[in-house]
Amino acid sequence: MFTVLDHPLVGMKMTTLRDKCTPPQQFRRTLHEIAGLMSFHVFAHLRCDAHDVHTPLETTTGQFLQSPVPCLLSILRAGNGLVDALSAILPEAAIGHLGVQRDPETHKPVYYYEKLPADIDQRQVIIADPMLATGGSAIMAADRMKKKGCNGLVFVCLIAAPEGVSAFQHAHPDIPIITAALDRQLDKNCYILPGLGDAGDRIYNTV
Ligand code: PRP
Ligand code: URA
Repeated sequence: MFTVLDHPLVGMKMTTLRDKCTPPQQFRRTLHEIAGLMSFHVFAHLRCDAHDVHTPLETTTGQFLQSPVPCLLSILRAGNGLVDALSAILPEAAIGHLGVQRDPETHKPVYYYEKLPADIDQRQVIIADPMLATGGSAIMAADRMKKKGCNGLVFVCLIAAPEGVSAFQHAHPDIPIITAALDRQLDKNCYILPGLGDAGDRIYNTV
């Protein structure tokens, strides 16, 4: 239920994201590349049905996405970077947005926005956010999706802190976590160490 991508290509590109000198345009491009590499693991959880497909020579059994197709759920803002890349690989997917922002004092997640497909309860939902720090934002997102009746949830991030992994697994032991890196710890402001800083600010150049 917990996958850390252990691959030199991912490790090299994560190093580019961590580097404070990496400019926003390169940060966005590299994030996109990493998410593309992660998609193989993320989409291993896709639900497919078997139906006939007619090749020019014979009929065989093919794999087809279950209908309705999955929803990629971006936890705003930074989740958009991951969802853009995942939707490039799975363009059939619906895209949902969930606005959750950490309170700077309490570090607790604060909900502010939601836009989802009307039949979200019937869809598999892949929740994306680059950072799993305290786990509060991801837990809130998964709570909301479960309350709506979704199942087959998957959570994907770039960097997870041990504290966030443990909180998320405690709250949602049934949801797989896929991350590009597992870091050491949180600092006193609940930022991930060594981390990459504020993911949203680095993507959108709002530092
Ligand atoms: C960041 C990040 C996660 C959250 C992780 O977002 O993208 O959503 O913090 O922290 P947590 O695991 O402790 O909840 P932030 O709240 O800074 O919002 P932003 O994406 O709008 O910058
Ligand atoms: N949110 C971020 O963007 N970075 C962190 O290290 C923690 C929370």
